[in-house]
Amino acid sequence: MSRLKELRAYVDAELLKMENKEKMISAVAHLYGVSLAAAMIAKKRGEDPELASMAAMLHDMHAYKTGSYEDHAHKGAELARTILGELGLTSQEETEVICSAIYHHDDKLVVDGPMDEVLKDADVIHHCMNDLSKAVKEKEQKRFEALCEEFGLTPESNEK
Ligand SMILES: [Fe+2]
Ligand SMILES: [Fe+2]
Repeated sequence: MSRLKELRAYVDAELLKMENKEKMISAVAHLYGVSLAAAMIAKKRGEDPELASMAAMLHDMHAYKTGSYEDHAHKGAELARTILGELGLTSQEETEVICSAIYHHDDKLVVDGPMDEVLKDADVIHHCMNDLSKAVKEKEQKRFEALCEEFGLTPESNEK
């Protein structure tokens, strides 16, 4: 089994413990959606798509496990470190890359390292493109426009 598959098996099992099944379904959709977007963005930018996908699979786990988004990026990075330590799928260096991306993923208005940016942008892609009828959030507008430019898309597609 690939390590991404192994990580997904772990994440799936954790999500299945969620009592609210509607929330569980949106958690699955979001983590897998961001994971796909992260792989695509990483590939485009010459970053590691597998690590990007792995970071995405874990990025909101703290919020889903606790039901709270309070400081979920920073707390989520610590949770990811524990999970990755237990699973033993990544080198120390890879764990740092993944945890850094999760730590910074809520800081959408500032620019961090290349892999941190991949995860932020993948999160924004899923927020903005999962439902095109939804307005783009103000704090994600600039990033979404830059992504549309990078991928040759028209941002106006969200305004019907
Ligand atoms: Fe998040
Ligand atoms: Fe997210």
